[in-house]
Amino acid sequence: GVKIVTIGGGSSYTPELMEGFIKRYDELPIREIWLCDIEEGKEKLEIVGKMAQRMWDASPYDVKVHLTLDRREALPGADFVTTQFRVGLLNARIKDERIPFSYGMLGQETNGAGGMFKALRTIPVILSIVEDMKELCPDAWLINFTNPSGMVTESVMKYGKWDKVIGLCNVPVGAMMDEPKTIGKTLDQLTYKFAGLNHFHWHKVFDEHGHEVTKDIINAMYEGKDMGIPANIHDIPFFKEQLLRMNMIPCGYHRYYYREEEMLAHGLKEYNDPNVGTRGQQVQQTEHELFELYKDPNLDHKPEQLAKRGGAHYSDAACETIASIYANKLSHIVVTTKNNGAVPDLPVDCAVEVSSYIGSTGARPIAFGPLEPAERGWVQCMKNMELCVEEAAVTGDYGTLLQAFIINPQIVAGTKAKRIMDELLIAHKKYLPQF
Ligand code: NAD
Ligand code: G6P
Ligand code: MN
Ligand code: MN
Repeated sequence: GVKIVTIGGGSSYTPELMEGFIKRYDELPIREIWLCDIEEGKEKLEIVGKMAQRMWDASPYDVKVHLTLDRREALPGADFVTTQFRVGLLNARIKDERIPFSYGMLGQETNGAGGMFKALRTIPVILSIVEDMKELCPDAWLINFTNPSGMVTESVMKYGKWDKVIGLCNVPVGAMMDEPKTIGKTLDQLTYKFAGLNHFHWHKVFDEHGHEVTKDIINAMYEGKDMGIPANIHDIPFFKEQLLRMNMIPCGYHRYYYREEEMLAHGLKEYNDPNVGTRGQQVQQTEHELFELYKDPNLDHKPEQLAKRGGAHYSDAACETIASIYANKLSHIVVTTKNNGAVPDLPVDCAVEVSSYIGSTGARPIAFGPLEPAERGWVQCMKNMELCVEEAAVTGDYGTLLQAFIINPQIVAGTKAKRIMDELLIAHKKYLPQF
């Protein structure tokens, strides 16, 4: 049987993950699951851990869920280590959002200043997890969900020197779930080709005869159809002329770049409204409601309310990836992996989020081919911003971080940017040992 270790086990997403494993038990026979957390998350771990065990007890399968605050107790003999932790919990996220907004710039979990600081807090932790894995479970796969998923996964490869890693996001799953219906098709009739970076990828779609249907889906976007955009992204429409020229479908997060003005205005409006607040503040309420539900000793399945979180369908990405590695299924999954030429406009050894076939040797990225100047310019800028952030996360070098801030398209470079950076460095001091 398979041993799974989940780091950040106290997450409210754990029931989503359990549901995915229960659904796939026939192809992925799990023996034991270890949920690991830390002192700060102890109470959450205990509540959601009991809930996870009830889900297995209500299933036909005999799986034991172990809880621990010591990951070194959990890791020995692991086959798959999944990561879903949040350094500093939601309070840290709220600082990532509120401090930039207080200067009139975007505060968001994976974009702009907030996303860069989430990387600075997370990368040292993921690298220490990798060191433990080298010692305690050198054959295991690391399946990373922790945001910013692209930068965190790239750091594992580049600085952790660990190649058995796959980065995940639910955004492509949502798109592939909802888009086919908008043109009267089912997913199995279509071929999807994704390429780019995490939260910064585009895709093209082809029908069962090989005809490209990308433009049909773009047209459907303007008929008010549900395109599978995550719950956390405010749905400002893209400019249609831009998409038709591009002939690719941007991911939901491209709104922060292509409609920067409106997305910033919307974020600032919520930030300034004491009854709304930032997304992190909104999510705090949902999380509280979820944990109240998880405390109910009669609840043994994932509650509806989890769909209010942006990470819906997370388990379809995570559990399908693990099952595909385990059973060498070669399923098409969109993952963050080493480029190896799939996106020739980016370095061969950097991380990209691309359509891949997933099997026992990991991800085999599918060649996408060169991008046109507009997208090439964007993706090269974003990748080099990410590389600066990762380097700063490892070295703690102030100038390198400033370079990242200045190149980041969400930042208006200047005095205010430097103040945001300084304020975030102080606010997160406890979680930034490298600075
Ligand atoms: P959360 O605030 O519930 O945190 C999850 C757990 O991580 C907490 O119980 C916390 O105590 C624990 N934790 C913190 N530091 C830790 C450490 N050093 N070691 C072990 N555990 C630690 O977070 P959440 O809202 O459930 O999200 C979890 C993570 O998943 C976040 O990083 C979030 O950004 C990410 N996420 C990713 C996607 C995606 O598409 N990839 C989607 C949704 C959420
Ligand atoms: C999805 C993304 C995640 C993101 C999350 C936020 O959109 O793919 O990477 O960070 O949801 O969800 P939340 O409910 O925490 O705002
Ligand atoms: Mn994501
Ligand atoms: Mn700038």
